[in-house]
Amino acid sequence: MKGVILAGGTGSRLRPFTTIMNKHLLPVGAKPMIYWSIFKLREAGIHDILIITNRESLTYFIQLFDDGQELDVKLTYKIQKEASGIADAISLAKGFVEDESFIVMLGDNLLEDSLSPFIQKYKEKKEGAMVLLKEVHDPERFGIAEIDNEKKEVLSIIEKPSNPKTNYCVVGIYMYDQQVFQFIDQLIPSERGELEVTDINRFYIKNKQLTYEELKGWWLDAGTHYSLHEANVRMYQRSRKRKDK
Ligand code: G1P
Repeated sequence: MKGVILAGGTGSRLRPFTTIMNKHLLPVGAKPMIYWSIFKLREAGIHDILIITNRESLTYFIQLFDDGQELDVKLTYKIQKEASGIADAISLAKGFVEDESFIVMLGDNLLEDSLSPFIQKYKEKKEGAMVLLKEVHDPERFGIAEIDNEKKEVLSIIEKPSNPKTNYCVVGIYMYDQQVFQFIDQLIPSERGELEVTDINRFYIKNKQLTYEELKGWWLDAGTHYSLHEANVRMYQRSRKRKDK
């Protein structure tokens, strides 16, 4: 299975840092944020990775990683010309993933769990998609799911609901089959002018093809000042425990 890391976007909630810098290059623990997504995929045995970013940032990623050899991964890069949303960025992965199913990670998502058992579960499915859920205390910030506990199916997702029905956040890690590209072709921009990943997932829901797994450990999206601070605390704690850096 191949992996795709999304590392573009405007990072508007992290201004003024992101006025001059790509969010995924900001420090988290002893590394720029993007390292942690690469390490998560690598830990799960995924070494063939596409990084999708914007034109201005590409040069920094290449300076950091080149083709990825030093990190024991094989990196490919693709430019998203405008910040037109997560679904638009995913559409750029078509040539890279060829006929396979693949995993997408938003580069600002950090987590404790290994992805291996989830990927294993997804591979047991014949078709469809899988999302990962985590209970959160601020559901208004995220895509929020209603679920069928027995069938392990997602019944609905609402993006940043003002009256959330549950606390189950759909985290920024998605496993898709080839249908995803047909679904993206049918999307129309949301009110914020973007092609939304939640709208992709709704197509799978309509076909009863969106299953989920729940994360057990901590998870966060380092897209705001406070969560970036939390991400730093988590990663330094982790390093201290491991005594690696
Ligand atoms: C995006 C997704 C949202 C998801 C979140 C996880 O939100 O649209 O469904 O819950 O990532 O990080 P954004 O960060 O674009 O606001």
